[in-house]
Amino acid sequence: MAQTTHAQIEERVLGGTTARRGDIVIVSGEGCWVYDEDGKKYLDLGSAQGVAMLGHCHAGVTEAIQEQAATLTLCPSYLYNDKRAEFAKALVDVLPKHLPHVFLANSGAEAIDGALKFARLFTRRSAFVATTRGFHGRTMGALSVTWEPKYREGFEPLLATAHVQFNDAAALDKAVTDKTAAVVLEVVQGESGVNIGTPDFLKTAQQVCRERGALLIVDEIQTGFGRTGKWFAVEHTGIEPDIMCLAKGLGGGFPMGAFAYTKTIREVLTPGAHGSTFGGSPLACAAGLAAIQAYRDEGLIKRSGILGANMRNQLRGALEGVALVRDIRGLGLMIAVELRTKVAPVLKSLMLSHGVIALPAGPTVLRLLPPLVITEKEIDLGVQAIAKAIKELPA
Ligand SMILES: Cc1ncc(COP(=O)(O)O)c(C=O)c1O
Repeated sequence: MAQTTHAQIEERVLGGTTARRGDIVIVSGEGCWVYDEDGKKYLDLGSAQGVAMLGHCHAGVTEAIQEQAATLTLCPSYLYNDKRAEFAKALVDVLPKHLPHVFLANSGAEAIDGALKFARLFTRRSAFVATTRGFHGRTMGALSVTWEPKYREGFEPLLATAHVQFNDAAALDKAVTDKTAAVVLEVVQGESGVNIGTPDFLKTAQQVCRERGALLIVDEIQTGFGRTGKWFAVEHTGIEPDIMCLAKGLGGGFPMGAFAYTKTIREVLTPGAHGSTFGGSPLACAAGLAAIQAYRDEGLIKRSGILGANMRNQLRGALEGVALVRDIRGLGLMIAVELRTKVAPVLKSLMLSHGVIALPAGPTVLRLLPPLVITEKEIDLGVQAIAKAIKELPA
């Protein structure tokens, strides 16, 4: 009898919530590349869902994990820990100065849920305002502020949330009332197509929150740690959120989430107001500390801005005159190629025929979130492959 393959086992046991893109089984990774069971390599322009910002198996992060795994992996939050303290200090050193406190969690959605809880506790109000096409995760709280109807269907009722048109400042002004606990938004929307928030919309968000006693929660889960060419996307805008949510790049590939908050919010917190068994483990903190050192010491934040602009220009050049391309946009190494057709066949052919992994963002957008360590040669390879895969589509 034929042996059951890894793909078949995953499909049988883990199937149900994920549509797979092909039968390949990834077994290892290094830098911008991942390798399948047959030794075939793929250029990962999606950074494993935007997480491998330092590339796969970054040497500094790997070494820190290995060393900490052999020293101490767990330490509950009621005891102090050297790595947790060092990581917390390193993190607040790179965060906007008005956010000196952090709660450590394990994922993006968990960070959002914690932020929503803090907003309710601080304001003693219950309702939220979020944006059309915003994505914040799949737990009940995070799902409430997420817009996409197909993700929400079957799970309602969720937390009371009004979704206003992204970038419609007048609609936002109308929606925020004295019942609003917080406005939740991304500065650059990731999952729904790399949509960049306008200065007017973002400033209005801050202003109406301040005027009406609501908090502004900015989701930097995808945009944080240099993805857009600054440490955090808010730095492009001048806005100062009350809470900022982080994950993806935070642990350098290790699962980690966090949310940072102001001194005023810190004042309403009491022991037990929130908690997490795994959040802030020494193992995660060792990884996070090594990751922050790498972003800083390897000059990756500035590099992301420069390489991102180059990559967008190269894509524009390679795809010039291609009727199926509607738009090419982005900020730093967060890039969208919007098509006039479905993106799924492009993603499949890119991976299976051209050895390049990219991401969708909605039905027609090809999204690129390459590791910040990507080289110019790898960008070149990726751009050529993308141009070929799009040009091969039937017109
Ligand atoms: C902007 C944003 N917020 C929240 C999340 C949810 O993070 P997680 O999948 O770690 O729960 C994501 C994940 O893609 C995201 O891109």
